[in-house]
Amino acid sequence: MAYTGDEDAAGVILDGLKKLEYRGYDSAGIATVSDNPGLTVKKGEGKIDELDTTYDFGSMTGTSGIGHTRWATHGGVSQANAHPHTSCDDRLVLVHNGIIENHKAIAERLEDDHSYTSDTDSEIIAHYLEEQLHHGVPIQDAIEQFMETADGTFAIVLLDTETDTLYALKRKSPLVLGEADHGIVLGSDLYAIAPYTDEALFFEDDEYAIIQDETFTLYDADGREQDPSFRPFDWDVEGAEKGSYDHYMLKEINEQPQAIKRLAHSLGSTQEKAREQLAQKIEDASRVIFTAAGSSYHASLMGVYHLQAAGIEAQALIASEFKNYERVDEDTLVIAVSQSGETMDVIEAIEYSKDRGGEVASIVNVPHSTIQRKSSVSLEICAGQEVCVASTKTFTNQVVTMLSLAATLRDEDHDIAAIGDEIAAVIEHNIDRVQTLASELEDADDIYVLGRGSTYPIAREIALKLKEIPYIHAEGMMGGELKHGTLALIEDGTPVISLIPTPDDPIESNVEEVEARGAHSIRVTPHGGQFDLEANEDHFALYATTIGFLLSYYIAKAKDLPIDKPRNLAKSVTVT
Ligand code: AGP
Repeated sequence: MAYTGDEDAAGVILDGLKKLEYRGYDSAGIATVSDNPGLTVKKGEGKIDELDTTYDFGSMTGTSGIGHTRWATHGGVSQANAHPHTSCDDRLVLVHNGIIENHKAIAERLEDDHSYTSDTDSEIIAHYLEEQLHHGVPIQDAIEQFMETADGTFAIVLLDTETDTLYALKRKSPLVLGEADHGIVLGSDLYAIAPYTDEALFFEDDEYAIIQDETFTLYDADGREQDPSFRPFDWDVEGAEKGSYDHYMLKEINEQPQAIKRLAHSLGSTQEKAREQLAQKIEDASRVIFTAAGSSYHASLMGVYHLQAAGIEAQALIASEFKNYERVDEDTLVIAVSQSGETMDVIEAIEYSKDRGGEVASIVNVPHSTIQRKSSVSLEICAGQEVCVASTKTFTNQVVTMLSLAATLRDEDHDIAAIGDEIAAVIEHNIDRVQTLASELEDADDIYVLGRGSTYPIAREIALKLKEIPYIHAEGMMGGELKHGTLALIEDGTPVISLIPTPDDPIESNVEEVEARGAHSIRVTPHGGQFDLEANEDHFALYATTIGFLLSYYIAKAKDLPIDKPRNLAKSVTVT
């Protein structure tokens, strides 16, 4: 996050960092520059609010500044490794997202007298540029040389304290600029700049900007001036507040009904053409491959299930493994599924596919995100901002989008808006039951979740939530696979959650297998059992998902864990 303009920079940056904190929250820092005292840098380990209490960021003076909230890659979590990083002479100070892969090689080529204060790859950028300046290279040339020299990914904002100028550089990691009434704001995504503007300039790879006196100029890597193209966006800033909920996760679970209705409306109006285009591309392709990570991969598995049911051969591949398994040709359609639209593993899979002539479509939540911009057709899932690191309403809307696509392919109507009311009823009728179960499972070390067919991806998704939020080891698996090994782990009292859409579902035999070994058997089903669910087989998977989300939430709450910001994780994973 960076700002230069008329206002106190620290206030604008602090506000932006709070909005960006979901991207990483192990340490943070802000640097500002003013006539007196000049450069001030305050940074440390911990979350923004804690650091603000310690450092009182608002007391930092100056109308230009930069800030960063970190998710550690190179170098542990420490004050020294927190950004911003400075050059030895304190003239340059910068923040960086991404990884400078050849940072060691660059360091070896620099003179010996640099004094390094961190273990990060990022610090090398300040020393490299400083050395160029000492050799009389103009700063703009030094930046272009750095972009030529550096391997890896970066979104960098550099503040030259001598000239009060910001330099913003981008390769692969997202970077966005907005013009506020009172200055220029830069951030890693729309959320940070949304309070100040409704138009955003998304940097393309290897572009950089020089920002001074509230104006900016955009260049390509060879220093040719570029025409900036601003894209309008509409983002509900108020909607991103927690309101009366204790946690964003619970708020976002409860927002599923309205998010589904918003999506249903959009797919039938503003996105109708894009939905039909995507369905046509799916029909025309000789191979359809979904690629995604985490929850979005589970939603992709649902996509495979529903497309197969609609007569389309499809597969889903974890994005980080894409190139190890995939052969893509001109007749391949790759559908990238991503909430953030910025997951680097997915972006790399897209680039790999495009290099081989494949067409790329996407299903994203964040408009204008990198993945959307790289797609020939893109559907937005219209879930609104999701702040909790764990996906809930966005997973649901990804799955609803798959249902809608499958219905389009079958040329059928599917009243997906109705799922909204059904999920509202699931929440209302089961909240007490889930809390009771959560207190029973609070001390569990392992939980197994069984599904088959359309509930297999949901079993995986519930298991992921149980790992992420209450930190319980959980496995989501196909019920039929249990007897091929995992059954050895089921003993007296082992919790096993079975997702049972119909009374005659084959998963019943797996339930019997675990119950015969003394498992603590939890049956999620509309036919008996401890939950009150409608017997709508088509939407059962989403009811079960909601039960799983609530269960993970209430177990974590009982354990007093940091639900919205679980340890070691970040919402938008922009490194590979
Ligand atoms: C979900 O609860 C996780 N936080 C994570 O698995 C996430 O789904 C994954 O990182 C993919 O993110 P994306 O949808 O933004 O690409």
